[in-house]
Amino acid sequence: MKLSARPAGPLQGEAEVPGDKSCSHRALILGAMAEGETRISGLLESDDVAATARAIESLGAEVRRDGKDWLVRGRPWEGPVAIDCGNSGTTARLLMGAVAGMPGVHAMLSGDASLAARPMQRVTLPLARMGAGIQGGDHLPITVEGALLGGIEHRNVPASAQVKSAILLAGLGTSAPVTVIEPVPSRDHTEIMLHQFGCQASVDDGPNGWVTSLGAQRTLAACHLHIGADPSSAAFPLVAAAIVSGSTIMVRGMLVNPLRTGLYEVLERMGAGVELSGERIQSGEIVADVQVRAAPLAPCHVSVQQVPAMIDEIPALAVACAFADGESIIEGLGELRLKESDRFGAIVAGLAACGVSAVADGDALRIFGGGKVRGGASIATQGDHRIAMAFLTLGSAAEQPVEVDEAEMIGTSFPGFVEVMQSLGADIG
Ligand code: S3P
Repeated sequence: MKLSARPAGPLQGEAEVPGDKSCSHRALILGAMAEGETRISGLLESDDVAATARAIESLGAEVRRDGKDWLVRGRPWEGPVAIDCGNSGTTARLLMGAVAGMPGVHAMLSGDASLAARPMQRVTLPLARMGAGIQGGDHLPITVEGALLGGIEHRNVPASAQVKSAILLAGLGTSAPVTVIEPVPSRDHTEIMLHQFGCQASVDDGPNGWVTSLGAQRTLAACHLHIGADPSSAAFPLVAAAIVSGSTIMVRGMLVNPLRTGLYEVLERMGAGVELSGERIQSGEIVADVQVRAAPLAPCHVSVQQVPAMIDEIPALAVACAFADGESIIEGLGELRLKESDRFGAIVAGLAACGVSAVADGDALRIFGGGKVRGGASIATQGDHRIAMAFLTLGSAAEQPVEVDEAEMIGTSFPGFVEVMQSLGADIG
C-alpha cells in the first residue's frame, strides 16, 4: 500500500501516541515468567507486540484482554515450540534469553526476511557461554534449548539493550552472578520493570563502563504495570510540529526516561520549542506531557555517545536536520545499518530524492539543510516502518508531496499513525 503526504497548514492539537514498544514486549515476557496474573495498562497493540503475545501463549502463558488492559498469567514454560517473530528483533532477542534460562524448554525462532537478515550472535554467543544450547548461526532460524545456566560477565559492545536484556532474562534462571558492562548505558526498561516484579538489577558507573548486575532475588511476582506513550512513535508528530511552520503539538503521558529522550534534547538545541510538564513516576518510569512548537531550526552535532538515547529516532531527527539551515552531523551510526532495514542508506537515498544533500561519511551522517525542502519524490521504505513515517513527516512540511512505496509496516509500531497525523491537520492518505 502506497501513502502520500501533501504540504499541510499548521498542525495543532494533542497526538494520541500508543504505549512504548520496548516496555510492551518486556511487560508481556516478564508477566509470562512471573507467578500470578500481571495487569498491563497502556500496552501497545501493534504487530510486533502481537508476535510476542503469541509467542508467550505458545510457551504456556495465558494472555487476555480486560477492557482496555491486558492480563498475562504466568505458567511454567513448555516446549518444544516454533515461534514466528515476524519483523520484531526485540521479540526474537529477548525471548532467546528468557528461554535459555528454562531447563527443558526448546524454542525454534524464525522471522520475516528483514529479521532473518539481522545479526543474532551478539545474543546467542553470551547465552551459549552461560550454558544454553544454541543451534544455528548468526541468523534466524535459531533453536534455543534452555538449561541450568552458569553466570556471566559480558562486555556488551556496542551497547545494546536487547543483548543486555536477553542476558538478564536468562540470568533469572540461575543463582550465579550475572553482569553486563557497556561503554555507554543502553535503555534500562528491563531493569526498571524487574523492580516492579520484585527483583533488582543494580547499575554502577564503573571505571570500565556501565555495570548492570542482577540481584539475588530472581523469582518474579505478578504486578500491575502502566506503560507510557512511546517516545520513538511520538517522534514523528513532534518533529512534524517542529518543521511545519506555526504548529504546536502535545503528547500526554510520554515516557521521558533519560535514556530515550536524546531526540528531544537535540530538537531543543536546534531551536524548537520543547516543553515538559506534569512529570510523574509511573511503574518506575518517568512520564511527562511533552509539547513541541515550530521555530526556525539551527543544524545540530550529535556525538557517538549521544546516539543510544535516540537510536530509533535517527530517521525523524534526519528529517528535522533537512529543514535546519546549515550542516548537521550525526556521528556513530554503524548500528543503524542493522535495523529493520539499512536505515542509514535509506535515509541518505530518501533525502537525496527529496532534494536534500546528505552523505554517509564513514559512520557519520552529514545533512546539508537549506531551511526548506523540495520533496516531490517517491521513497523506497525497504519495508521499514520508521523510514515510512519519517518521509511522510517530511512530506507534510515540504514544497511538493512525498509518497512512500509501502506503508503496511507502520503497523509494527504505530498502527494509528495516519489517523493521528490527520487529526492534527496533516494531509496524509
Ligand atoms: C530495543 C533496543 C534498541 C532499539 C530497538 C528496541 C529494546 O536496540 O533499537 O528498537 O527494546 O531493547 P539495541 O539496544 O539492541 O541496539
